[in-house]
Amino acid sequence: MSPEAGGGPPGEAGRDGPLRPDAEDYVLGHSARELDRLDNQGALYRAFTRELFVEAGLAPGHRVLDLGSGSGDVAFLAHELVAGSGGEVVGLERDPSTVAAARARAAQKGLDRVRFVEASLDAPPTELSDESPFDAVVGRFILMHQPDPAAVLRAAQVHARPGAAVAFLESSMTSLTQGVHSLPFSPLYDRIVRWKSAVVRGSGADLEAGLRLRRVFLDAGLPEPRVRFHAHVEGGENTPWYAYIQESVTSMLPRARDLGIDGFDEASVATLAADLRSETVASRGVLVGWPVVAAWCRIA
Ligand SMILES: C[S@@+](CC[C@H](N)C(=O)[O-])C[C@H]1O[C@@H](n2cnc3c(N)ncnc32)[C@H](O)[C@@H]1O
Repeated sequence: MSPEAGGGPPGEAGRDGPLRPDAEDYVLGHSARELDRLDNQGALYRAFTRELFVEAGLAPGHRVLDLGSGSGDVAFLAHELVAGSGGEVVGLERDPSTVAAARARAAQKGLDRVRFVEASLDAPPTELSDESPFDAVVGRFILMHQPDPAAVLRAAQVHARPGAAVAFLESSMTSLTQGVHSLPFSPLYDRIVRWKSAVVRGSGADLEAGLRLRRVFLDAGLPEPRVRFHAHVEGGENTPWYAYIQESVTSMLPRARDLGIDGFDEASVATLAADLRSETVASRGVLVGWPVVAAWCRIA
């Protein structure tokens, strides 16, 4: 399948059909390179994530449950806000090597109030039921990978107290796949956007989990959330966005190959950051980074 074939605007549902069974197999893999990419991604989305957590009321002493914790960025950020007065963060992550990486990073940072548990969100570990209820359930770029995101939120609520915050950040790709991604219009960035979207969609993830968050919250029995839309608009010589794009395309190459999606290979990716930089600088233009939608509410 070419990127164009898979990369057109998503329909109203944002998916071409029901989630494929292999959607459970995380689209980007878990290589050391992917863990580095998650670090860089964490830096790019840190401000939006922090703003969401502050608005949702994460505070010293709170216990926070982080769903799909990856290499730990969200958990570490939450820890900054809740540390002290017995605050604690528990991250759930199903991939053993990613759990090991997150634990190593926590140890390296000297954080002893962050714990990573190897578990699938479909079956949260029973040990959570024996602990005091959480004050917040959070997650980032995780509901997009779930076949039934509302069921995940319903299951997680069981471990939270009444009044607990529920705060999630998910990506929103529709505007990009519809061409709202650069000014002046960048054909190279358009190819990248379509290719990445095709790979994400081909892996069964939801391209539009962001704008779907409100509905998912309501379907999970949660009250009306506050919802915001954020995007970086990047240009000039020094933005880290060019390198992040190259890194993310590189991380997705094996999956693209499995899916039969061509358009980029190791050789063409090697110059992607430099090509994007020179094109954007020459045009004095801007690129829109992957937009995200942030939503939060309190459990009734
Ligand atoms: C895109 S990464 C996001 C990581 C982290 N939340 C962040 O923003 O840096 C998604 C992570 O969720 C994990 N994951 C996906 N589905 C899961 C599930 N059903 N149960 C547990 N972990 C899951 C993947 O293994 C991956 O590490």
